[in-house]
Amino acid sequence: MRTIEWNSENKTIQMVDQTLLPQEYRTIECTTIESLCHAIITLKVRGAPAIGAAGAYGIALAAQTSIAETPEELLRELESAARKINSTRPTAINLAWAINRVMKTVTSKTGTKQEILETALEEAEAIADEDIRTNKKIGEHGATLLQTGDTVLTHCNAGRLACVDWGTALGVIRSAINNGKEIQIIACETRPLNQGSRLTTWELSEDKIPVTLITDSTAGHLMRRGKIDKIIVGADRITEDAVFNKIGTYTHSVLAKEHKIPFYVAAPTSTIDRNHHEKDITIEERDPDELRYLNNIPVYNPAFDATPIENITAIITEKGILHPPLTF
Ligand code: MRU
Repeated sequence: MRTIEWNSENKTIQMVDQTLLPQEYRTIECTTIESLCHAIITLKVRGAPAIGAAGAYGIALAAQTSIAETPEELLRELESAARKINSTRPTAINLAWAINRVMKTVTSKTGTKQEILETALEEAEAIADEDIRTNKKIGEHGATLLQTGDTVLTHCNAGRLACVDWGTALGVIRSAINNGKEIQIIACETRPLNQGSRLTTWELSEDKIPVTLITDSTAGHLMRRGKIDKIIVGADRITEDAVFNKIGTYTHSVLAKEHKIPFYVAAPTSTIDRNHHEKDITIEERDPDELRYLNNIPVYNPAFDATPIENITAIITEKGILHPPLTF
């Protein structure tokens, strides 16, 4: 199944609970906006494109569960649901992008309550379907950058679990392998929530793609020894001057520069933020208890970092490969 989808029978949002992987593959259903927000905050659904789809379906769910008596009242409720869902995670632009796209579509049409619900759901389904098509195109473009024999390092999980399906960074790897290229993957564990060791290794193993797991701090050692040919990561937001992605990405980029290893970012153009710069973006800080072993130890636990654009060799999008500097 897709990582996230609309359950048309139950009229709920159905998703793979990523907090249970790799031990257990289970789907859960969100029946209220509160349960959806909780699922996003706790990373049951995670990854920029997947939370975008969650936000889009969230507007449809808000319309589905509303007891508003008039279309005007319903639209006010949808605005409020949009604000709630949008406030769950600040860094990935895809969440706001998808929510705004659905809200813009519903508000641009007048209609009955039922018509508003149908419009919201159609737009959310369009976003989810587009995500897969977009990722396949990113894969096609990105596959041209990989050669047989390459060992490719990736950080976090930018695979099908982070999207509706296929994946961005892992989508490039899937496409290259589908094209007959033989590629080895190195997955960084991605402390503290281990999206690499729990999710990337799981989804690549499911597809029988060769993957070796390392600790985050082993990456530099392997680069120095000439064991990494290329690095591909996803992105949560791309501004003119930086790429925001999982904490640790910046460190890999500096090491890649030092060792002259190509550093690629694979992301849909919906991840590009043309209106802001690095300094404007809020980096999500997560619960200290994700790190803390000893009570009362002060903790700083940012979920993302910013990689300066000059550290990036190329950005692989569905529209083609962009070579920095970027000019929006
Ligand atoms: O905190 P997460 O697990 O949502 O972080 C995810 C990432 O950093 C991914 O690399 C990014 O969203 C790109 S996913 C295609």
